[in-house]
Amino acid sequence: MGLDLSGKQVAVLGAGKIGGILLKALLEKGLLSSSSTCATVQHEERARCLTQKLKIPVGTDNVAAARNAEIVFVCVKPQVVREVMEEIRGVATPNQLIISVAASVPTSQIEEALASKIPVVRAMPNTPCALGVGMTALCKGKFADAGHIETASALFNVVGRTVVVDEKHMDAVTGLSASGPAYIYIILESLAEAGVKVGLPRDVATLLAAQTTLGAATVVLETGDHPALLKDAVTTPAGCTIDGIMELEEGKLRVTLIKAVVKAAQRAKELAYSG
Ligand SMILES: NC(=O)c1ccc[n+]([C@@H]2O[C@H](COP(=O)([O-])OP(=O)(O)OC[C@H]3O[C@@H](n4cnc5c(N)ncnc54)[C@H](OP(=O)(O)O)[C@@H]3O)[C@@H](O)[C@H]2O)c1
Repeated sequence: MGLDLSGKQVAVLGAGKIGGILLKALLEKGLLSSSSTCATVQHEERARCLTQKLKIPVGTDNVAAARNAEIVFVCVKPQVVREVMEEIRGVATPNQLIISVAASVPTSQIEEALASKIPVVRAMPNTPCALGVGMTALCKGKFADAGHIETASALFNVVGRTVVVDEKHMDAVTGLSASGPAYIYIILESLAEAGVKVGLPRDVATLLAAQTTLGAATVVLETGDHPALLKDAVTTPAGCTIDGIMELEEGKLRVTLIKAVVKAAQRAKELAYSG
């Protein structure tokens, strides 16, 4: 994207699973520099451990971390976002960009807690960002402009693909691409298990399942062809694949996956307001 962010002061509030993945990946790819990046967590021992591991200052003081930061990532649990935003309210300024990855929490709630016209971008990444093959959807709050979205896109583009959506779609994105890796791991695990059942060594079965998943996904992304069309090309009349597909249909794989995404998206709507 050509944006130079390496000199920017960046704070990551809540360097847990996703915050840690983003921090590590952005530092490794050189988009953030360790001399101008800091982070926070809740527990002192974890802060000490992360300071050693990431070679950046990690503490438990959100106000100190957010003060003078140009970009503030908010990576705490949805239920904690309001509290953390109210904490940093006194040091937050409209020159900063707040990027929240919290599921379920609308930009309006963050803007309201910060109590001034601070640009907020909401992002929904997923764990494959750790290896640069993530998927992140982005939307902007009331005070963010195209430049803020460009900055956030530049950050998340180094850890995978990005797409800009309307905020009304963020819970759906959460149910599909943020939770999605878990669904795919279950499918992969099951395919590998099936390989073992038909006599393959487990490592070979896992390789076949994973590379097949990657291959199919790559074809969809690179050709833009409809998955149904691609499926038809594998399905020879009276061949083996159609027998396999009949089992999938009988086991209601399609409707089960649809229901999984619908349920997760519904849960995403309520997360910020529950336990
Ligand atoms: N995991 C995913 O795949 C994923 C994907 C997209 C979005 N998200 C969103 O990312 C957020 C974090 O999820 P996660 O899975 O990364 O959870 P997590 O591993 O539990 O991370 C939460 C982090 O927040 C820290 N924390 C808690 N209270 C804090 C406070 N008051 N001030 C500063 N730090 C505080 C915790 O500190 P300690 O380590 O000391 O406990 C922990 O490091 C959630 O809002 C979630 O919706 C997650």
